[in-house]
Amino acid sequence: MTVIRSVIHGCGSYLPPRLVTNEELAKTVDTTDEWIQSRTGIRQRHIAADGELASTLALAAAKKALAQAGVAAETDLDLIVLATTTPDETFPATATTVQAALGMTGGAAFDVQAVCSGFVYALTVADSLLQTGQARTALVIGSEVFSRILDWDDRGTCVLFGDGAGAVVLRAEESAGLISDRGVLATKLHSDGRMHDALYVDGGPGATGTVGHVRMQGREVFRHAVVNMAQVVEEVIAAAGVTLDDVDWLVPHQANKRILDSTAKKLGIDPGKVVVTVDLHANTSAASVPLALDVAVQDGRIKRGDLVLMEAMGGGFTWGACLVRW
Ligand code: ACO
Repeated sequence: MTVIRSVIHGCGSYLPPRLVTNEELAKTVDTTDEWIQSRTGIRQRHIAADGELASTLALAAAKKALAQAGVAAETDLDLIVLATTTPDETFPATATTVQAALGMTGGAAFDVQAVCSGFVYALTVADSLLQTGQARTALVIGSEVFSRILDWDDRGTCVLFGDGAGAVVLRAEESAGLISDRGVLATKLHSDGRMHDALYVDGGPGATGTVGHVRMQGREVFRHAVVNMAQVVEEVIAAAGVTLDDVDWLVPHQANKRILDSTAKKLGIDPGKVVVTVDLHANTSAASVPLALDVAVQDGRIKRGDLVLMEAMGGGFTWGACLVRW
C-alpha cells in the first residue's frame, strides 16, 4: 500500500558565539563547576547576545538545513513549523518572521509551544500536514533564547539552560508503507496539565503582562522525566512494530546527563547508541533535540537508512517521541 512519508532531506543548527563555562558562571552565581557537572553533566552553554533573537538563531539553522536539502525557500517551501518558548514577540509567530526573512511568500508558518518537547511536537504536526497533503515541503525548527527567561539569582535553574537552534527540512514522498521506508514512521504525543506547578514561568501576557521567569521543582521533574520518556519510547516503537534493538540512534532531549543515563538504563538501551550533547549545549529546550541530531549527522554517526528515535519532555508536562528512518 502506497503511503505518504515525511522524509528528512537536510538538517542544520546554530549556536550563538558567546560561550559561558561553568567556571565563568560561578563568578556571578553561587555555584561551582563541580556541583553543576556532578548533578547535570553540563560543562558549558551558549548565550545569545543582545539583539540575537529566536528568529535570528532559527534563520541561521534553517539556512543550513535548506542548503543541505537543496531546497529554495522562495519557490519550494510551503510550511514552517517553529517550536519556541521564547518567541521574539507575543505575536506574530516567530515562524512568520523567519518566513519573511527567507523570502517565502506562500504557504503557512506558525509556532508551536510545548517547551522542551517543542521540536517533537512540531515534527509531528508537520508530518501530519504533509501526510494530509496540506503541504509538500516543510521546515521544522526548534529555536530558543532561554537565557531571557531565567532568573539569574536562582542557582537551581539558571545553571541548567542555554540558547541555540536546530532545523530539519521534510519532503512528502510516496513510499511503500514498509518499516524500511525512509521518513517519519511513527509519532506519539502526550501532555498532563496537572503538572503545571512542577515547571512553569511566573508570568505571561494574560497573567501578569510580563514575560516571567522559569520556576522548577527539580526532583519532581527528574522523576517524571525518566518515567514519561521511557514510556513514550516504548509506545512509539510498539506502534512502528520494531524493537529497541532495531533502533540505531536515540536522540533524547538534552536536559541532564543523569536523566539521559537513567532513561537509557530503564529502557535497557546500549549507552553507545545515545547521542549526548548536554555537556556542550546545556538544556536548550525546544532546540535541544535538533541540535543533538545535527551534531550526530554532521559527525557521520547518523547515516542514511539508520533508524533514529527522538524523545523529549518539558513543562506542562508535555512529552513525546518520533521514530524516523534517516
Ligand atoms: N550550585 C550549588 N548548589 C546548588 C545549586 C547550584 N547551581 N542548585 C542547588 N544547589 C543546592 C541546593 O540549594 C541544595 O542545598 P541544601 O541541601 O543546602 O539545601 C542542594 O544543592 C541540593 O539541591 P537539590 O535541588 O535537592 O539538588 P538535586 O540533587 O535534586 O539536583 C537538579 C538539582 C540538578 C536540578 C535535579 O533535581 C535535576 O536534574 N532535576 C531535573 C530538572 C531538569 O532537568 N529540568 C530541565 C527542564 S525539564 C526538562 O527538560 C525535562
